[in-house]
Amino acid sequence: MASFPFLQNAVAVHRSRPDPEDSNRSANPTVYAVSCPGRRTLLQGAGAALAGLLAPLAAGTTGDAPLLGFASVPPSSADTVAVPPGYRADVLAAWGDPIGLPGSNPAFRLDAGNSAAEQAAQLGMHHDGMHYFPRAGSDSGLLVLNHEYVDDGLLHTDGIANWSAEKVRKAQAAHGVSVLEIAQREGRWQVVRPSRFARRITARTPIAVAGPAAGHPLMRTAADPTGRRVLGTINNCASGITPWGTYLTCEENFIDYFKPPAALTAHEQRWGLRRGSFSYYRWHAFDERFDAGRHPHEPNRFGWVVEIDPFDPRSTPVKRTALGRAAHEGATVAVARDGRAVVYMGEDARFEYIYKFVSRDPIQPGGAAANATLLDHGTLYVARFDADGTGRWLALRHGDGPLGAAGGFADQGEVLIKARQASDALGATKMDRPEWIAVDADAWVYCSLTHNTKRGDIGEPQVDAANPRADNAMGHIIRWREDDDVGSERFRWQHFVLAGDPANTRPEAVGNVQGDAFACPDGLWVDGRGVLWIQTDISNSAVGRGEFARLGNNAMLAADPRTGDVRRFLVGPRGCEITGITATPDGCSLFVNVQHPGEAPRGRNDPTDPQRHSSWPDQHPTGRPRSATVVIRKLDGGLIGT
Ligand code: FEO
Ligand code: CA
Ligand code: CA
Ligand code: CA
Repeated sequence: MASFPFLQNAVAVHRSRPDPEDSNRSANPTVYAVSCPGRRTLLQGAGAALAGLLAPLAAGTTGDAPLLGFASVPPSSADTVAVPPGYRADVLAAWGDPIGLPGSNPAFRLDAGNSAAEQAAQLGMHHDGMHYFPRAGSDSGLLVLNHEYVDDGLLHTDGIANWSAEKVRKAQAAHGVSVLEIAQREGRWQVVRPSRFARRITARTPIAVAGPAAGHPLMRTAADPTGRRVLGTINNCASGITPWGTYLTCEENFIDYFKPPAALTAHEQRWGLRRGSFSYYRWHAFDERFDAGRHPHEPNRFGWVVEIDPFDPRSTPVKRTALGRAAHEGATVAVARDGRAVVYMGEDARFEYIYKFVSRDPIQPGGAAANATLLDHGTLYVARFDADGTGRWLALRHGDGPLGAAGGFADQGEVLIKARQASDALGATKMDRPEWIAVDADAWVYCSLTHNTKRGDIGEPQVDAANPRADNAMGHIIRWREDDDVGSERFRWQHFVLAGDPANTRPEAVGNVQGDAFACPDGLWVDGRGVLWIQTDISNSAVGRGEFARLGNNAMLAADPRTGDVRRFLVGPRGCEITGITATPDGCSLFVNVQHPGEAPRGRNDPTDPQRHSSWPDQHPTGRPRSATVVIRKLDGGLIGT
């Protein structure tokens, strides 16, 4: 559909910007259709318009063949990564592996004995959202990935015992984002070490603030009276990419890092600070800005979407406040017919919302430099799903309806900092934990609603048309099509799948159980052939128990959005969730993240526990389980999923 470009692949065109220092990166790169080495089809040059380029990709290149051509992987509780016959999965980059900083190459120590300074030169913990930015097409590129959080029981040799400033520094260094240069050598993917692109962005990296909330009084602190410079990004969950070649990393459960004040304001309560609770990560003990009693505005400086230029290691990341503050899961960019950028965002918390940002101006040719402020001007909307199958995007615009001074909003900056309160006032639909959002070639926009067992409880929101199950333990995927164009203020919606038991099938849900059952959808991504990939995150207090028992470890499935056929493609090791997915432009190398293998069912790992239930990927008797990026290839070098 020309007005709805297939952006996941479209960015390959734009992101290959000329780089005078980079002899490997062509100033006029080519883009390959979805076929693999030896069978490459030259499609178009870099000057091609997005829509014109992508329509053929979206339609697929395999003719009338079924979209899914692999044999389903059975459920498993083994401590390994399982993929279909004819495929292989290799670990590429695990927590603690050196990223290839020139002059600093600290090896990972199996006893977690690396220092904070060494951790800052190694991959962080708990990999999440990720994207492959091509340099030389599908043979080398930059792999950019988030590190969502840490398990201090695994991060330090003696866990949380003897808590210290060094441990806080190491935990902060294990957060944020990694930029890796990777390349295929002799048929195997490797991290390039050293690389001038290698970069860690951590919870201490200086980050600029831009957009309507930059400099706002609610953003100012003792350490930053300007309200325009924040140290770090945290709880980086899912991600996004822009057509101008940048990476969007999203700050999710930031509130867990703050020690609450003794008495809470209504604002602090609405954002999840709880009286008498403690900061799970204990940073406030040695970094006082995480004590919200002493620094009440510091929490306002997190919960943003952060834009990073991965090709410029010296660039300053920017918090884009025009996109609103939320426990952001991800940020998925589409392009309106008139060239404006549209950013879809879920807020993953019980009874929170789905957002859409529409830029004021169209995307300009010229890459990141030409679009450096594009995400600072535009309109933020929140979704209302009506019972008749239609929906409305409600603008979070200062002065409109309840969003004026009388409603407690002094200006647009305050509307954005208090986006939850603004969405409450507008009557938006409270959802069952919105996670990733993906857009397919038929202009359907999919959002996973991972689960919400509080739905229907006394004193909590009851079932509604869009969230139709009380005690929604298995989750669902909703989808909508915008009226006319992605910039529209109206849409029509339906359920794609109510996950879990096949008996949950609804007449309008095309997916579900014409294949393999799954639960708790989280990661969603549409590949270059139009396959909808679904990654699961069943909590480890539920894996293997009750109605979840037959599903095994967390998994990744492939769905044909047009037929609803769902097939299990990958099963992860014990205790993990599967999250983060990207591919090379040729569709022949698929990168997937395995997060928190060996997660204890409740709380942190015990560093002295010899019975830890996962030692993936090292399988070393005294080693620790490590989150890692896995690269999946077909043995015959063919397209993934066929
Ligand atoms: Fe970080 Fe909602 O997953
Ligand atoms: Ca997630
Ligand atoms: Ca999740
Ligand atoms: Ca997670």
